[in-house]
Amino acid sequence: MLENVAVSMLKMGLLFAVIIASSGLSACKQPQASLTVPHAAASEKFVSDSVLVFEPDHVDIGEVKEGEDATGFLRVRNAGDHMVNIVSVETSCGCSVAEPEQRLLMPGGFTRIKVVIDTFAKQGDAKKWVQITDGSGHRSRAWLVLHVQPNPHLDASSRSIFQGKCAACHYDPVQGKVAGAEIYKAACAMCHGNHQEGVSGPSLQHHHNADTLASVIANGVGSQHMPGFAKNKGGPLTTEQIDALSQWLSKLDK
Ligand code: HEC
Ligand code: HEC
Repeated sequence: MLENVAVSMLKMGLLFAVIIASSGLSACKQPQASLTVPHAAASEKFVSDSVLVFEPDHVDIGEVKEGEDATGFLRVRNAGDHMVNIVSVETSCGCSVAEPEQRLLMPGGFTRIKVVIDTFAKQGDAKKWVQITDGSGHRSRAWLVLHVQPNPHLDASSRSIFQGKCAACHYDPVQGKVAGAEIYKAACAMCHGNHQEGVSGPSLQHHHNADTLASVIANGVGSQHMPGFAKNKGGPLTTEQIDALSQWLSKLDK
């Protein structure tokens, strides 16, 4: 499914895809002063093995208001002694689009990759990775860090993570899923973690009341950061799916 998405985006001339188990940001309730992204640090064991080297491999874009595009540039150098082709560029979330200025790099040559991140529904410190693959299948990864500021002028009612191109990953994949675990994997894990430990959204490990869970899942918390997932709120989930999901979540041995 994600591969199909990537294929259709390739057709649009954009190159991006997704890998579920990565990236992340600090939960919104944590202090914003220091830039630590604990979940990302804990989950990332990526080791670059390509001669294409990001210099540097962490770039801080600075502050951006929620809803505005954040643009960053990553510099890539060919540290090998042969010509190298950048065959693909992937990003952690489909909200980011990354495009190299040049794909064929001479030995010692370099290029820049322009990354544009749609910050709708983001908050706090966000960290997104960009990964390139060379012609021999070797990969290299860099991270963009941004600090999303609340935006009083954002008209959140006019958008949602369930609409437009966001739907390909935040709405469509959960359609037709029946088991709680499957629904969770497709609709929740990207923000709450594979083990409900919390990533950009808070940990859900202390929730044991199925009715409360069902109500929060259906109606959201009144913001675009955790929208209502019920069909009648514009979300992807049927009443049966919400029941199955909240039953499953409430009974997990956490
Ligand atoms: C190709 C699949 C895909 C598409 C398309 C996609 N996302 Fe995501 N999204 C993910 C994945 C996977 C994660 C978790 C990894 C991460 O945070 O980068 C995520 C995480 C998020 C998060 C929580 C983490 C954060 O960055 O704050 C938000 C908010 C979000 N997406 C919004 C959007 C919006 C808005 C769009 C449409 C402009 C969108 N996404 C399109 C796959 C996608
Ligand atoms: C795009 C990211 C995102 C997705 C997807 C998402 N959530 Fe959330 N969720 C959040 C954020 C952020 C909060 C905290 C919102 C706040 O308090 O402002 C939250 C809050 C919650 C809460 C309340 C937690 C508490 O203790 O206050 C529950 C329960 C919850 N989400 C369950 C789910 C379930 C179940 C799913 C899947 C159907 C899901 N969420 C999908 C981001 C997300």
